[in-house]
Amino acid sequence: MISAKLPKIFYGGDYNPEQWPEAVWAEDVKLMREAGVNLVSVGIFSWARLQPNERTYDWGWFDRVLDLLAANGILACVATATASPPAWMSTKYPDVLAVDAEGKPYYPGARQHYSPCSPTYRRLAAALVTRMAKRYAKHPALAAWHINNEYGCHMSECHGEASTRAWRGWLKNRYGTLEALNAAWGTAFWSQHYYSWEEILTPRRAPYHPNPTQQVDFKRFMSDAFLELCTMERDILRAATPEVPITTNFMGFFKPLDHWRWAREIDFTAWDSYPDPATGHAAEAAAACGHDLTRSLKKERPFVLMEQVTSQVNWRPTNLLKRPGVMRLWSLQAVARGADGVMFFQWRASQGGAEKFHGAMVPHGGTAESRVWREVKALGADLARLEPVVGSRIQARVAITVDWNAWWGVELDSRPGRINYAATVAEFHRYFFERNIAVDFVHPGADLGDYDLVVAPALYLLAKNDAVNLEKFVARGGVLFTTYFSGVADENDRIVLGGYPGYLRRVLGLWVEEWSPMMEGETNRVRFAKTTAKDGVKGPTRVATCSHWCEVVHLEGARALATFAEDFFAGGPALTANAFGQGAAYYLATKLDAPELARVLDGVCARAKVGPVMASVPKDVEVSLRERDGARFLFLMNHGAKAARVRLAGVGAGAGAKFAGVDLLTGERVGRAVTVAALGVRVIEVGT
Ligand code: GLA
Repeated sequence: MISAKLPKIFYGGDYNPEQWPEAVWAEDVKLMREAGVNLVSVGIFSWARLQPNERTYDWGWFDRVLDLLAANGILACVATATASPPAWMSTKYPDVLAVDAEGKPYYPGARQHYSPCSPTYRRLAAALVTRMAKRYAKHPALAAWHINNEYGCHMSECHGEASTRAWRGWLKNRYGTLEALNAAWGTAFWSQHYYSWEEILTPRRAPYHPNPTQQVDFKRFMSDAFLELCTMERDILRAATPEVPITTNFMGFFKPLDHWRWAREIDFTAWDSYPDPATGHAAEAAAACGHDLTRSLKKERPFVLMEQVTSQVNWRPTNLLKRPGVMRLWSLQAVARGADGVMFFQWRASQGGAEKFHGAMVPHGGTAESRVWREVKALGADLARLEPVVGSRIQARVAITVDWNAWWGVELDSRPGRINYAATVAEFHRYFFERNIAVDFVHPGADLGDYDLVVAPALYLLAKNDAVNLEKFVARGGVLFTTYFSGVADENDRIVLGGYPGYLRRVLGLWVEEWSPMMEGETNRVRFAKTTAKDGVKGPTRVATCSHWCEVVHLEGARALATFAEDFFAGGPALTANAFGQGAAYYLATKLDAPELARVLDGVCARAKVGPVMASVPKDVEVSLRERDGARFLFLMNHGAKAARVRLAGVGAGAGAKFAGVDLLTGERVGRAVTVAALGVRVIEVGT
């Protein structure tokens, strides 16, 4: 459970009362009650209203908002308001402004223009948060703290003076000596040797590729610099209210922040999910991927879907709305995948400002005739019925590795070809999503004891310890599946010499001599040998198309399950399996299209003995199981346009398992099979 004060599914949204006359607030709380709202995030962009100048704070209106909420039984996730500094601040102290790689400042007038390293920003943010924490520590409405907002979202790099100074400090801390830095960065190349710390700059506008290790380190540094802001605020809040849980809202696969480092500093994870309705079924796959990541970042506690939209956003070139029923379906999908909170941006649609065309729980036209409002109210009622689910967890036996260092490294300039890291990870996630196999994300260095199968796509940059961790996982009986261009460089983006994939060479039983990316539209073919279940990939001889990347692989104990059929690569291994210790390690030296990859992964899952909860689920029906103290909650979500009939029968190790029970949403008792309406959801408490 996230908060003992609110043992329910959180339901509400960003509430920005400062945009409205106080007369509207009374209507707000009345409508919140009508919709079943139990929590709102307040104050996210309130700094200018809370502090008119450096010496004056204006808490009166904020007191009244919190009092009003408390009087109406609505709790608050109180935001620290530090995401958008007031204009007076940069007028008085221009050093708070962030500076881009060309040396140009970001000016106020939008939001998030501050430099994370500005001592002035830090001082004023700390002063605000200290007062806020003290003032509201005992307020009955306070249920959680929301630090800042979407750190790094619009501005994730600062090259100003304070940032450059802090960067040098960070480097001293990492390397200790200039010799160590010069060695790690490979500054013997292009006459880049540094003789004093003052010579070192952030990677700014340069005539050609800046030093790659400097670039990777700068990403690490910036992620840490923003994190320092977050922990600074957290420490102030924690000192005032040790029992109140603290979060900040993430954005799923967001490249600038190393989320593994971040998640351990907060009490519960939260994210903002805006899948594009224009992308069809890819939208729910993308949302599932973000939910699984946010849940995995802090496995021990449920997460919160902190923001989504009721209808349409305003920041894409074309902003399709969610059709009737989709908002409910996607909200319950978040719960199905581990969320204990469903929130929106925002409560009431703004009249002015840059987000007035962004959907909200209360639309411009009011509530009476509004489809959105009807759906908002119905969702509140549904979530109240799901109270028994609170605190339950998802038990995955499969994990996909995600490492921000690998992401930063693989997408730099000066690589052999383009690899889109997040898209590659998402392709693998989609297989498990479509097969309804529960999947977590993990850091490659994490404890892998919970898993039977670990998929490690494009782990280009891989620290030795992490490679050893993966090797141990296999030695102890795990199944590892990794892909081309993995293990190539160490954590300093220096090639691991002696044959790729470096420290993974032994566990994979092969080495890679060279590679070639393929041009857009170019293909090769892969010939699969006839295989049996024993090989992990069962099937007759077949030929499939591959694209994107080809490698020259030499076997050192591994067996080729498939070979390239064309070009200079013909006859060389394209897919290999290596028995290692008690387990097995697979290597895919190219990119297969989705159906072919699915066939391969079917075999790998069979080898690892992992599978879905239930057999023969109709297409477009998503299945998820949450569990707690023997209680089990089966979620069936129909993303299709037609009603689907689902047989409630277990599969694999769970064969014979029955999922009869009570549908928490309808109270209906269901037995052997159940119909899930188009865009419908069933949440069956199994065994009741
Ligand atoms: C983000 C921000 C919100 C708002 C929404 C709009 O998630 O956190 O303040 O701008 O986007 O979609």
